[in-house]
Amino acid sequence: MDIVLSGIRSTGKLHLGNYFGALGNFVRMQHENKCFFFIADYHSLTTHPTPEDLHGSVKQVLAEYLACGLDPEVATLYIQSDVPQIPELYLLLNMNAYKGELERCTSFKEKVRKQPNNINAGLLTYPTLMAADILIHKATKVPVGKDQEQHLEMTRTFANRFNRMYKVDYFPEPVAFNFGEDLIKIPGLDGSGKMGKSEGNAIYLSDAPETIRKKVMKAVTDSGPTQPNQPKPEAIQNLFTIMKAVSSPDTVQYFEDKYNACEIRYGDMKKQLAEDIITFTTPIRQRIEAILADNDKLQRVARMGAEKARESASKTISDVRHIIGFREF
Ligand code: TRP
Repeated sequence: MDIVLSGIRSTGKLHLGNYFGALGNFVRMQHENKCFFFIADYHSLTTHPTPEDLHGSVKQVLAEYLACGLDPEVATLYIQSDVPQIPELYLLLNMNAYKGELERCTSFKEKVRKQPNNINAGLLTYPTLMAADILIHKATKVPVGKDQEQHLEMTRTFANRFNRMYKVDYFPEPVAFNFGEDLIKIPGLDGSGKMGKSEGNAIYLSDAPETIRKKVMKAVTDSGPTQPNQPKPEAIQNLFTIMKAVSSPDTVQYFEDKYNACEIRYGDMKKQLAEDIITFTTPIRQRIEAILADNDKLQRVARMGAEKARESASKTISDVRHIIGFREF
C-alpha cells in the first residue's frame, strides 16, 4: 500500500475542472491507499491574507472537499497548521536547504517577478515547507500537476541529503503521481485551454444556478459549421467536452448530430449545457452549504484529522530528532 499525500491550496473554490480532474481521483484513491490530504494554510501566509480571509477560505475548502466525497473516516484529512511537527521538520530541513537552490526555483523566480515588494523568507523556503509536508508522513506518492514537479524534485534532494548526511536510509523518495489516462481535462469557457481559477473561465461547484447560466451563455462559439461532418474548432470541441462530462449520452449525441448536419444552434446547446451543469452541481452545492452551516461537523472533522495526522507526524519527528542528535539524557 502506498502512502499518498496531497496538499490542497487553501485559496480558491473548487471548479468543475478540479472535480473531474484530481479530486475525482482522490475520492477513488482513498480506498486503495493510505491517503493524507491536507489544506496548506501555512503556505498561503506568503501572500498575507487577513485573518478573516484565512479562516474563511480554509473552512470553504474543507467543506467543499467533504461535499465532493473525501471521507475523513477513510483518509486523513487535516489542516496543515494543526500539526506542529510540520513546522518543526521545516526548521530542521531549512538548515540543509541552500540559498542558491532555493533562489533557482522557478516558482520563486516567478513570485519575485510578480510581487517584487513582498519577497519574504516564506516564499524562498516554500519548497522546504512542502518537503516537510511530504516527508513528515514519509509519503511515496504525491499527486501533483506539472507546475509542482520541481518542488517534488527538491523534496527528493532534501530527503537524500538528510539520508546521506546522517548515514541513514530514513526518508523514502517521493514521486510525482499524475493520473495519466484517468485524468479528465475539463476545458474553460473562453475558447481555448483548460478550466482554471487564474484563467477566469471557471464554473465553480458553489456557483448559483443563475451564475452558471450567465457564464455558459457567454462561452465562446463561432458562426457554426458550413459543411457536414467538419472537425470542430477548439471552442466548440470544448463545449462538447464539458457536455460529455455532465450530460446524458443521448443529449451529447443529439447535438453531435445537429453539428454534423450543420443545423446546430449554439444558443440551444448552451441552454441545455447550463441546465445539465446545474443539475450536476446542485446536490454538491447543497452539501457544501449544509456542511458550512454545521460548525460542529467541521470541528469534528478537523479535530479527527489533526489527531490522525499528528500521530503519524510525531513518529517521524521523534525519529528525526534522534537521528540528528537531539536525545534525552
Ligand atoms: N504547492 C502546492 C500547490 O500549490 C500545494 C502543496 C503544499 C502541496 N504542500 C504540498 C502539494 C505537499 C503536494 C504535497 O498546489
